Amino acid sequence: MDRSHFISGAPVVDRYLQEGYEAVRGMSSRFAAAISAWCLKHQASNGIAGHFAEIGTFQGRYFIAQALALEPGERALGIDLFDWPTAATLDIFLANCRRWGLSDAVMTVWKADSGQMSPEALRAKLGDGPVRFFHIDGDHSPEPLKRDLDLALAVLHPQGLICLDDMLHPGYPFLAGTVERWLVTNPAMRLMCVIDREDIVAAPKFLICHIDAVPLYETALMERFAAFHYVLGGDALGHFCVVLTPNPRIAEVD
Ligand SMILES: C[S@@+](CC[C@H](N)C(=O)[O-])C[C@H]1O[C@@H](n2cnc3c(N)ncnc32)[C@H](O)[C@@H]1O
Repeated sequence: MDRSHFISGAPVVDRYLQEGYEAVRGMSSRFAAAISAWCLKHQASNGIAGHFAEIGTFQGRYFIAQALALEPGERALGIDLFDWPTAATLDIFLANCRRWGLSDAVMTVWKADSGQMSPEALRAKLGDGPVRFFHIDGDHSPEPLKRDLDLALAVLHPQGLICLDDMLHPGYPFLAGTVERWLVTNPAMRLMCVIDREDIVAAPKFLICHIDAVPLYETALMERFAAFHYVLGGDALGHFCVVLTPNPRIAEVD
């Protein structure tokens, strides 16, 4: 797959995507990282300020791209147990961040179990302001995912995005069921966009936002990523969602 078109439009992010992304071990796709970083830039150009947080930073592959997309004064919070596959993960993560210019002035590392975190404790790590983009990529079992979703929602900017990794991953066939149940109990939140997989490791992501924030993103995403737009869209609990895929095509029926 030619990944050279998977860019955000932000030069500092795109240099990392082109020169560093594959060298940092991780699982998020470059396709999704580029779209996510574009979303952060789109938020800023629409006056939305706040932080970036990630549960499950691992060695920093996706984290670095999003941290580089932030505006002055905003912070990137990296949360992980940092014990898998070995205790060296934290040092590798920090070295990768330093290599790409992320200092303590812009990032906070939190070695902890997200399941034990309160919204107040998370806010205290960031200082003033909400989280405007929250990536959840930690424990992929139902209760922990639900807890992570509740935590993200509690600290989210009203027009912010929750991004979920490994949705529709064959290795987690029922993970999206947890998200469906969470959306039913949080009817003000919507699945706004599905970012499709590159392959079985670089799996799809969901972008979720408040129903009132959907117009801020959906047309802009379809226009900016027109080359990747699956024009039939997605049927998400009875409403439309944007679908972006690296190789869009429609099945032939005659
Ligand atoms: C698939 S990796 C994340 C990959 C990374 N986001 C990327 O894009 O390259 C999952 C990470 O979640 C972390 N994790 C799992 N359960 C967690 C928990 N309860 N709290 C914090 N981190 C957790 C693991 O330690 C692991 O590093």
